[in-house]
Amino acid sequence: MRRCLVFVVALLAVSLPATAQQLAATPPMGWNSWNWFAGKVTDADIRKAADLMVSSGMRDAGYVYVNIDDTWQGKRDANGVLHPNEKFPDMKALADYVHSKGLKIGIYSSPGPQTCAHYEGSLGHEEQDAKMYAEWGIDYLKYDLCSFRKNMQEEHPNDVPAQNKMMIDAYEKMHQAILKTGRPIVYSLCQYGFDQSWQWAPKVGGNLWRTTDDIRAQYGSMMLIALNQAGLSKYAGPGHWNDPDMLEVGNGKLTHEENVTHMTFWAMLAAPLMAGNNLTEMSDDVRSILTNKEVIAIDQDKLGRQGDRLWAGDQIEIWSRPLSDGSVALAIFNVSHDQHNMHGLTLHLKDAGFGSGTAHARDLWSHKDLGVIKDTDVFTIPRHGAVLLKLTK
Ligand code: GLA
Repeated sequence: MRRCLVFVVALLAVSLPATAQQLAATPPMGWNSWNWFAGKVTDADIRKAADLMVSSGMRDAGYVYVNIDDTWQGKRDANGVLHPNEKFPDMKALADYVHSKGLKIGIYSSPGPQTCAHYEGSLGHEEQDAKMYAEWGIDYLKYDLCSFRKNMQEEHPNDVPAQNKMMIDAYEKMHQAILKTGRPIVYSLCQYGFDQSWQWAPKVGGNLWRTTDDIRAQYGSMMLIALNQAGLSKYAGPGHWNDPDMLEVGNGKLTHEENVTHMTFWAMLAAPLMAGNNLTEMSDDVRSILTNKEVIAIDQDKLGRQGDRLWAGDQIEIWSRPLSDGSVALAIFNVSHDQHNMHGLTLHLKDAGFGSGTAHARDLWSHKDLGVIKDTDVFTIPRHGAVLLKLTK
């Protein structure tokens, strides 16, 4: 009898569509083509990225989505079927290849007539496109507002609430189209945080939603975005995540310390971790930052409580995040432009839930147990650097 019941439950689990919570129980992790390749990405680049995600250890560290961003689209035929352009000769074969590596594959479109790079969008073809993605074996869709803003403004000139409603309806339309396919597809909303996306995105099926404008591979851009996430923690949780945009770790001229700060902040924010670097030339340093298992464990903590600001001064910010095992992640960011040694500051351990003002600490970047630390202990943090501690009573 019991065995029979287990069988029925198992059968239901495979036949029911995955709920949002099951689909993205922890923040999605992967790699996306945009930050490095932008409009140049090809089928060969995606295959190579998949290979390198396996050989570099990224897949085993949790990065499973290989996402094709903008510029894969060709033209629609007389039946409205959208064909990929010459850079992507066979999407189904590409998806099969990515799947054969134990990875998943993502794609990109827009609710407007055109994408941000002026390729074909999904307006008026939502169901047809979603069905095609499902047939190809797509596991993730990033849906980028782009040209739909113009449609909103033309339809409702000077009426921002009506424009916003039109935007939300457009995201719901694709949500329904995805559900209709019956395939579990992570739904990533990209509309730069307009109309406080965190307030409504989960209601239209968003597993993640951008909270900001585009990130650039510069310390200033990354930190501006990160610090603006203060106050958003209550909107995130298993199945639905704030998205402060994809990682720039390893891109541009970001230094070791800046990459560490970037990764630390995104882990504290329970942010989706979409690497965006050139995997063919990844340095050992960048690889070890992206694959730091202890830091990834903070990002992926199953409680799913996003961190938030605990304390801010001119030169130091302290953020904390409660974890599922009762411990707390504490990050100290040096937001000044010089090395900083915290003299005269406290760690705010009491505010982080350690009433005694002491805690056991593990340093997740040096992988060292620090023993018992006190509120008044001093950490020396390099320029643009960060410290990430796991605290237990
Ligand atoms: C927007 C998005 C980016 C990227 C580009 C592609 O700017 O925010 O992440 O997808 O479009 O054109």
